[in-house]
Amino acid sequence: MKKVLVLYYSQSGQLKQVLDHIISPLEFDDQVQCDFLKITPLKPYPYPWKFYEFFNVFPESVFMHGCEVEELATADEYDLIILGYTVWFLSPSLPISGFLQSKQAQKLLKNKPVITVIACRDMWIMAQEKMKHLLSDIGARLIDNVVLTDQGKSLYTFVTTPRWMLTGKKDAFWFFPKAGVAENDIEESSRFGLALSSALAEDKEQQEGSMLNNLGAANVNGKLIATEHIAHRSFRIWSRLIQKAGAPNSQGRNVVISIYAVFLFILVCTVVPLNMLIRKIIAPFRKESIAKAVHDYEQPSGR
Ligand SMILES: Cc1cc2nc3c(=O)[nH]c(=O)nc-3n(C[C@H](O)[C@H](O)[C@H](O)COP(=O)(O)O)c2cc1C
Repeated sequence: MKKVLVLYYSQSGQLKQVLDHIISPLEFDDQVQCDFLKITPLKPYPYPWKFYEFFNVFPESVFMHGCEVEELATADEYDLIILGYTVWFLSPSLPISGFLQSKQAQKLLKNKPVITVIACRDMWIMAQEKMKHLLSDIGARLIDNVVLTDQGKSLYTFVTTPRWMLTGKKDAFWFFPKAGVAENDIEESSRFGLALSSALAEDKEQQEGSMLNNLGAANVNGKLIATEHIAHRSFRIWSRLIQKAGAPNSQGRNVVISIYAVFLFILVCTVVPLNMLIRKIIAPFRKESIAKAVHDYEQPSGR
């Protein structure tokens, strides 16, 4: 009998829904036992978010300061850990980075094979690089990564995802699609559970290499790599400024957040389209380096 532990933090329940679909084929496998455990911050985060609450978690998310989380109710040993996380400001969400830096994570995950499952807007590359460090710091072994991103083009989700986070509304409106991951993509994620069922039967979790390759687990959008790099650099600068301005939710911090929001709006309306145009022009000359970066960031699972 193999024991699989699914750990996750989800605010709206979307990521939990993805994990339920992934795990569904394993529920018919009498050789596998799956336990779900929710990571719960001691001080809950709001959902939907108010504007200032949303940006107040920005610096701490970027620097992965984490938050304190409740002790998990398990002392069991598991053969495989599935870690579901969402991305906050190009970083693993605060409850996840808090949990991974806790003693209980070290006890539970040390020397264990881990599959990460991400459901986010569409910018997850930097977060997963940070995740690799967090996992390696506690001696866990990342063997696969499954990523589901919100439906619609980046330009649309730049509106639909924040609208959903700030109002709780997911419906389609005007020419914008529904917010969140497409239902179809969520349903089709059960293919990963099917693959896991046969891989676990062959003890593949104990070997080197991926159990979920050739299943479209992680598809990197090459056009977003440069954007993520630039945004991450800028996030670090602004995070420092916002932290220097005051403690979370202080007046000083909220003033700098207001300035940042205006800066971000101007940036999105001017620099971002210009940057997209320049990258389109130079893309044919950077084909090989982009293809290599896409391949590298898609590891360990690949397309
Ligand atoms: C504070 C905050 C910051 C976010 N930043 C990002 C981001 O940088 N990249 C991204 O792709 N999605 C981002 N998202 C969207 C989340 O990754 C995720 O899709 C959303 O929170 C829904 O997940 P859940 O309801 O299952 O928790 C952010 C969401 C929140 C609340």
